[in-house]
Amino acid sequence: MKISLSHGDIKNSSADTIIVNLFAGVTQPGGATRAVDNAMTGAISEIIASGDLTGEAGEVAVLYPRGAIPAQRVLIVGLGKSDELDLERVRKASASAILRARQLKAKNVATIVHGAGIGGLPVEAAGQATIEGTLLALYRFDADKKKSKDWEIETFTVVEHAQEKIEPIKEGIRVAEAIASGTYLARDLVNMPPNIATPTKLAETAGEIAKAHGMGLIVGDRRWAAERKMGAFLAVAKGAGEPPMFIVLEHNSDRQDLPAIVLVGKGITFDTGGISIKPGERMWLMKSDMAGAAAVLGTMQVVGLLNLPLRIISITPCTENMPDANAYRPADVIKASNGKTIEVLNTDAEGRMVLADGLVFAKNYKPAAVVDLATLTGACVIALGQGIAAGLFSTDDSLRDMLVTAGAKTHERLWPLPLWDDYKKAIESQVADIQNTGGRFGGVATSAVFLKEFTDYAWAHLDIAGMAFTDKDDAYTPAGGTGFGVRLLTDYLRNWQAQNSIGASN
Ligand code: BES
Ligand code: MN
Ligand code: ZN
Repeated sequence: MKISLSHGDIKNSSADTIIVNLFAGVTQPGGATRAVDNAMTGAISEIIASGDLTGEAGEVAVLYPRGAIPAQRVLIVGLGKSDELDLERVRKASASAILRARQLKAKNVATIVHGAGIGGLPVEAAGQATIEGTLLALYRFDADKKKSKDWEIETFTVVEHAQEKIEPIKEGIRVAEAIASGTYLARDLVNMPPNIATPTKLAETAGEIAKAHGMGLIVGDRRWAAERKMGAFLAVAKGAGEPPMFIVLEHNSDRQDLPAIVLVGKGITFDTGGISIKPGERMWLMKSDMAGAAAVLGTMQVVGLLNLPLRIISITPCTENMPDANAYRPADVIKASNGKTIEVLNTDAEGRMVLADGLVFAKNYKPAAVVDLATLTGACVIALGQGIAAGLFSTDDSLRDMLVTAGAKTHERLWPLPLWDDYKKAIESQVADIQNTGGRFGGVATSAVFLKEFTDYAWAHLDIAGMAFTDKDDAYTPAGGTGFGVRLLTDYLRNWQAQNSIGASN
């Protein structure tokens, strides 16, 4: 679908389908909706008066102008109460409208930006949210696409009446298209079956990103990792049939003057639990155990597309976790790349193992901040729920605040959880420096204090176990991989750039 921006009145648009909006409780629409209403001699006001259109969030009404304006149909999407309007409402309204347009087999669609007029949201952000909601809602996994003969909309035009809003909307569209592209990539990687989305496939994907955007690339194999004494990563990989890959991308690798932000993503391409094998029921879901890596790679694609003026490094340790004659076992003692020894009590606590070496490797970049994303614990899902919020742990207050703010804005919400030293007791080992599980209680916090042992910089850990995959369609997130983290990380990085006013000179 081709997206463009046009200066003018949406009522004059030559698109077959136009989208306008309505706040709840409004009897006389304003702005572009009023102009369309007037051109249709009050057809919109009439259905409002009849009670068939209320402006409630998510509602979409379809009207047929029958020649009163060039469009064949008008979609009026509800924005809910005006004092409750936020960017999430805009994304959701945009999603509802475009999904209805697709259902109606619209070919050329035009829309106004939701929320930037009477809604009073910042114009660029509203434009970005309108396009994000639209593009993210239209996502379909390729393999499904082949099966279904679902309709594809050809063009999507944002129409803006006010000249001074054109530039900010243009910028919003540019950012949203980059973010959607990165989110599509992350969703694709999670949706692919685990025999396809192997560590090799993730390395190839990283290679494509590196090539497209001139990033530095390392694809470390078993030998490479062994040379760096990455015993924790290699322990998990021992049982893997698919070759493990420790993948690093570096944006602005020639700009050592720029501060470095490192993103680390758990890349378990399939988590059987290993020797501590998981029950069979819903084990297939563990194809999503590389969602942290997928989000980080998707974000690198956005970073490249937007060419952010920061040094941004992604580290994604990728391997399967399989039961095998060579697999690591409960009771094994492993040495990580920082020299710390780990007693393995449960081979299903593999995420923290691969992240340990990933976090140690991050130190090489003298990072200003390190953020890791991982589908790490079922305990996090028990604590915060499925699809509600990711758990956030941080050693740095300002990093934590920036991430929480980015999460609130993008609606990829994060909820802070404690990193108290008291939790360390649970992972004290008799035979090693630390053990890889801490018992039933506080499982999400004990996993985080385990990771902390491998950091010595400003660090945040996002446990995205409940956020990476959804069983059912929701507003702009179809069932399957959600791409959680791409919008959040992009927003965080763009804010970091703004707050620290780093100048671009490349
Ligand atoms: N990948 C799982 C965590 C997970 C569970 C992600 C559900 C998404 C949905 C992780 O590797 C795991 O198995 N964690 C164990 C840790 C335990 C053995 C300490 C868990 O949460 O049960
Ligand atoms: Mn596991
Ligand atoms: Zn796992």
